[in-house]
Amino acid sequence: MNIGIVGSGNIGSTLGRLWANKGHKLLFSFSHDEEKLERLAQECGNGSRAVTPYEAVSLSEIVLFSVPWTQVDEAIKQIGRFNGETVMDATNPYDAEMHVQTFPENDSSSESLAKKMEDAKLIKAFNTLRAETLRDHSGQEIVVFYAGDHPLMKKKVAQLIEDAGFVPYDAGPLREGKKQEPGTDRYLKELTLEEARRLTGESAEGEAVRGEVESPQWQERSSPTNR
Ligand SMILES: NC(=O)c1ccc[n+]([C@@H]2O[C@H](COP(=O)([O-])OP(=O)(O)OC[C@H]3O[C@@H](n4cnc5c(N)ncnc54)[C@H](OP(=O)(O)O)[C@@H]3O)[C@@H](O)[C@H]2O)c1
Repeated sequence: MNIGIVGSGNIGSTLGRLWANKGHKLLFSFSHDEEKLERLAQECGNGSRAVTPYEAVSLSEIVLFSVPWTQVDEAIKQIGRFNGETVMDATNPYDAEMHVQTFPENDSSSESLAKKMEDAKLIKAFNTLRAETLRDHSGQEIVVFYAGDHPLMKKKVAQLIEDAGFVPYDAGPLREGKKQEPGTDRYLKELTLEEARRLTGESAEGEAVRGEVESPQWQERSSPTNR
């Protein structure tokens, strides 16, 4: 599929290369260095191209948003507007001094980003593992948590997690993404499926021990990937 990359640094280039190995076409954008984007695209093959952030979103089936938190507004400005596209949010809310921004109980980094990306379907994913882990430990049964409110789009994200060589772990609706932010017990953890189940309290049958989660979208979701 066509995958747009907004933010072609450590995370964007690493995942781009992994997806290219599975035959996907990458549309790399958002770098100060146009030639770097061109080189990346050439390396990835499959018709991959260097594009603008607007094109990365409008010409792709799904988008990886991997920009520094301090550059979120600039990237969104360059994208323009969204038209129902699915966005995988890999960002972590570090400020310019690398302090983690905290959010009120009823908010989180992805929910605040979703409000800024009106008309996008935002799914938090790929924020919990280091770029080096993604690069060096693909194919080693390590879990990638993802959280979002759009069941069908989450299936696509799960497929892309598998295509990158990791094990998708459906962490619930977008608000549950708060549980994979910096400082949580899911952050920077290289977990097997069993370890992730123990950590989240979910059984092998997918019986979530998450009493507080009652949204219809959560109930609607199918989470075979956690089994
Ligand atoms: N690195 C990790 O291990 C890791 C792991 C999980 C999540 N994350 C999160 O993923 C996001 C990206 O992290 P990263 O390490 O990949 O960052 P990065 O290597 O610094 O890459 C950021 C990309 O955005 C581009 N960029 C930044 N400001 C720009 C601007 N004003 N105009 C145009 N391009 C601009 C950079 O351009 P240049 O190419 O010119 O530098 C670079 O391509 C962050 O939110 C981070 O917290 C990172």
